[in-house]
Amino acid sequence: MFFLLLFFTIIGSLESGKILVYSPSISRSHLISNGRIADTLVDAGHEVVVLILEYETLTEFTGTKKAKVIKMTNISSQFMDDMAGSDEYMLSNDRLGFVERAYFEYSASSMCAALMKRRNELEHLRDYKFDVAFSEQIDLCGVGVIRYLGIQNHLWISTTPIMDAISYNLGIPAPTSYVPTIEENDNGDQMNFWQRIFNIYMYIGSIIVHRYGTDRITAVFQEYVPDFPNVREIAANSSLCFVNSDEILDLPRPTISKTIFVGGLGVPKEVKPLDSKFNEIMSKGKNGVVIISLGSIIPFGSLPNHAKIGVLKAIKELEDYHFLIKISKEDTTTLELINQLQIKNIDLTHWLPQVDILAHERLKLFVMHGGINGLVETALRAVPTVIVPVFADQFRNGRMVEKRGIGKVLLKLDIGYESFKKVVLEVLEDESYKQNAIRIAQMMRDKPFSPEERLVKWTEFAIENGVLEELHVEGSRLNTIVYFNLDVFAFIFLVIFIISKIIVYIVCGLKTKFNVTPSKKLN
Ligand SMILES: *[C@@H]1O[C@H](CO)[C@@H](O)[C@H](O)[C@H]1NC(C)=O
Ligand SMILES: *[C@@H]1O[C@H](CO)[C@@H](O)[C@H](O)[C@H]1NC(C)=O
Repeated sequence: MFFLLLFFTIIGSLESGKILVYSPSISRSHLISNGRIADTLVDAGHEVVVLILEYETLTEFTGTKKAKVIKMTNISSQFMDDMAGSDEYMLSNDRLGFVERAYFEYSASSMCAALMKRRNELEHLRDYKFDVAFSEQIDLCGVGVIRYLGIQNHLWISTTPIMDAISYNLGIPAPTSYVPTIEENDNGDQMNFWQRIFNIYMYIGSIIVHRYGTDRITAVFQEYVPDFPNVREIAANSSLCFVNSDEILDLPRPTISKTIFVGGLGVPKEVKPLDSKFNEIMSKGKNGVVIISLGSIIPFGSLPNHAKIGVLKAIKELEDYHFLIKISKEDTTTLELINQLQIKNIDLTHWLPQVDILAHERLKLFVMHGGINGLVETALRAVPTVIVPVFADQFRNGRMVEKRGIGKVLLKLDIGYESFKKVVLEVLEDESYKQNAIRIAQMMRDKPFSPEERLVKWTEFAIENGVLEELHVEGSRLNTIVYFNLDVFAFIFLVIFIISKIIVYIVCGLKTKFNVTPSKKLN
């Protein structure tokens, strides 16, 4: 760390910059990735403020260890209230539909309205005279707040692989024939005819849902500043777009020069030794250990009973492996079931030292939900995975893992004795998964420029040069009709239509004039 600091102080001719990171507490993983950005920039010698807007009450968690935190709490309970039943919905439906996604936009923009009612509490942020400000794509309230505070230089954070609404806004090409949309889309980059139809449907739907949300947010700001531009237009002028994904792992796709991949940012290179409790667990199992951690939205305990019992029975039969399952604090039934079924090869835990345990040589498989943060960490540690996607980008991330040959997908509604046993055995026993994982991890580590270097150097470049207009793609300013050349296609169809009409007219005219038709000739 000292050398890193020294390195940046010597290399960076730049005076320390003032940086704002806008970080709504949508979920723990969002705070983690925003916190890693902030901490990396602090390490490089910059003055960083993380502005946390409390959407979800995550107690004291901020995601940053080094930056100054300013927190706005008790904004509105709307987001928490609206998200209340969503875990049950996600458990019983394969994917969220557009109605639920529109409702999310509604909820997020209502939060923005509640936040701006207290805009006087934001005023003191103007005094910092920030050079640049980061915000994420989940809703565009951050983009609005940043402009409201008079900060002109906006930098994007895409917390998932590049969202469709972002790519559309920034003019990043997203050919629907092989770039699957990010959210709620269980497709990889090889799609058959029907899958491509579905992908186009998801693409158009994403953009419409996003327009609805961004128009509502624009209206919030126009209430206080009448000539406030549409937040989509402000977003389109962002200098850079940092993407929390890794191009070696991710599905390959076209990007523009603004797109900087920083996946794996802040994941420590050196591994801390495990404590004695986890060391002991990791020594169990003849062939090694499997970890199951399905995340906080659908933890293991909330799976339907038949699925849970099926998985536990399968585990009992996989006796050469030891299983470590992360459960929620409220979960008491899982332990009861394990005792009833008399299973010996399971340990339960409420917490995991994830980045360190992933590096343990006896860890053979990680069964997880496929959120991009955890997935990049797992891929960096060369651990094969079984992905149980829950929502958002996780379906598509699962297909990405399959493409790279480092794991398999198990859909949440299919979880049961047979499906679990089959997929887990396949990844454990087919050597190719581990070999591919080693190659991917090696390349992720060895590729030119680390995520930290990329983030710091590009941010400093934006601080020194102001808004990077030269990188703006003209496509970001075109309307939908011109962007997709719909007018040109309409014109071409019209011309073809008129010409064929004329030909038909002439042919028919000739026929009646000379009265020669083939049938008459024959007679
Ligand atoms: C939160 O806000 C509500 C009204 O907006 C207020 O009644 C309540 O006292 C606040 N709670 C805290 C802890 O500040
Ligand atoms: C975006 O950038 C263009 C070119 O500099 C400028 O004319 C336009 O006003 C900007 N739009 C917004 C909303 O800032």
